[in-house]
Amino acid sequence: MEKVVLAFSGGLDTSVCIKLLEEKYNLEVITACVDVGQPENEISKPEKAANKIGISKHYTIDAKEEFAKEYAFRCIKTNSLYEGYPLSTAYARPLIAEKIVEIAKKENATTIAHGCTGKGNDQFRFEATIRSESDLKIVAPIRDLNLTRTEEQEYAKSNGIPLPSEKIYSIDENLWGRSIEGGLLEDPATPSPEDIFEWTKSTEDAPDTPEIITITFENGEPIAINDETLSPVKLIRKANEIAGNNGIGRIDMIEDRIIGLKSRENYETPGALLLITVHKALEQLVFSRKELKFSEEISEKYAELVYNGLWNEALREDLDVVNDHMQKRVNGKITLKLHKGSMKIRAREAKKALYNQDNVSFDDKGIDQREMIGMVKNHDIQGEEYFKVFKKE
Ligand code: ARG
Repeated sequence: MEKVVLAFSGGLDTSVCIKLLEEKYNLEVITACVDVGQPENEISKPEKAANKIGISKHYTIDAKEEFAKEYAFRCIKTNSLYEGYPLSTAYARPLIAEKIVEIAKKENATTIAHGCTGKGNDQFRFEATIRSESDLKIVAPIRDLNLTRTEEQEYAKSNGIPLPSEKIYSIDENLWGRSIEGGLLEDPATPSPEDIFEWTKSTEDAPDTPEIITITFENGEPIAINDETLSPVKLIRKANEIAGNNGIGRIDMIEDRIIGLKSRENYETPGALLLITVHKALEQLVFSRKELKFSEEISEKYAELVYNGLWNEALREDLDVVNDHMQKRVNGKITLKLHKGSMKIRAREAKKALYNQDNVSFDDKGIDQREMIGMVKNHDIQGEEYFKVFKKE
């Protein structure tokens, strides 16, 4: 019997997949769960579920540090947002796929399976990475059989598959953010109920006293909060905690999926929004005007590649090379005031900056003001001409 490695979360889709892979595809199933910072019980749950279903082999791969350092930190360094969303799910998918490929090769499996439906983005992201990094076959039982959620539930019941605790929403969570979809949220006219949020306080419930924090950067990467040096995982967790507690990080949006469907999405990404905000503030001191403009283009391109799952596209690597070169100069500290959903930059200090206080000061004679007279006089030659020629009688 050929072996298949299934990316397994213990949720409804992937639980149903196990049985389908055995029965309809005649494959021996190995399950794997990649830890990219989902809650503790979501790591232990798949293992328990796999045992219960009688899976002979289950892998749990800890990829948290790699995810933080090589993926989430790239989101900060590129300030990448897709339509305002910090790409928490999107950044995790290529790494998960890569780990599953490694297991499949080790196990001499012929096939990889995932539980994505045919409507979402993750099918593109998983398969792009799997195809570029291996020659393995790919099967997606839910999509192949065109199953609805209700059909999946019925199949689970009639096949004795222990139904994962009845969830109203489809939730995806990792270190970088939490995404909540489905159920009553599918109607954009329905306001998001308070009980979908776990990482963030509402503006009303956030503390009345403002909180002032500092973030230190080295080579464009955050290394310390309030002068305490932290590992990437710990730093992101702390940023999530502080920002979430101050009512920062909720996004309720209409998103344009890869296939063109518009979907209503709710996210909690407090740490991501905080870290990108402070990172940009530091870049303003350091980068030239042209670099700042260019860095907006990097953000846009990078976000598009990551959203579309094109992590192994050559351009992604090219952008990293140029951006990493620029980020070497992004060193310093930003002070920020958080209060009831708002984030305000209070102070900026860069180790080395293009900002030159002497030159810009009203009290300095280093730049002779008189040298500007000719420059100012000829600043709008075309405007003068246009007005004279076309606007005056
Ligand atoms: N729409 C987001 C993305 O494509 C998040 C999807 C997360 N999945 C979920 N079941 N909540 O990146």
